[in-house]
Amino acid sequence: MGQTQNLEVGPSENTLAIIKPNAVKKNVAGKIISMWEDAGFYIQAIKKVWLMPHQARGFYREHEGKPFFEGLIEFMTSGPVYLLVLAAPGAVQRNRDLMGATDPAKAADGTIRKLFADSLTQNAVHGSDSLKSAEREISFFFNTFELP
Ligand code: CMP
Repeated sequence: MGQTQNLEVGPSENTLAIIKPNAVKKNVAGKIISMWEDAGFYIQAIKKVWLMPHQARGFYREHEGKPFFEGLIEFMTSGPVYLLVLAAPGAVQRNRDLMGATDPAKAADGTIRKLFADSLTQNAVHGSDSLKSAEREISFFFNTFELP
């Protein structure tokens, strides 16, 4: 991880990534973006926003009712986040590999979460878990004018 890699051959795919409030507060957003660039992702779109509760609830609606949901919404609205559309062949899976396990205690060395997560909820980054989720998540946050 962290080394320059050549882009794989194949059609490019988009995935949605979020740099979460704990990572923004620690001032490591640039380091995380560099990890994506060094791994061969192209930054298709990026913006910094402070989510409102209804936006965080809508984004994470599949988790509504789970024990961690309210804490997740409180955390995701506690400060600004970066929203990114990352492009690369196989971007969804490649970003999941680069982020590491959701639970930072289980994340492999060199992954973003191993380096920058503070807890299971404050796990530094989000990445789409499938192409279908990526499409929903990208259109949730970005309109066509923001995706050149
Ligand atoms: P993320 O990839 O953004 O998707 C859902 C988020 O819920 C997850 O990262 C964590 O920030 C948070 N979370 C908190 N507790 C759990 C849990 N037990 N299982 C999965 N996700 C959790």
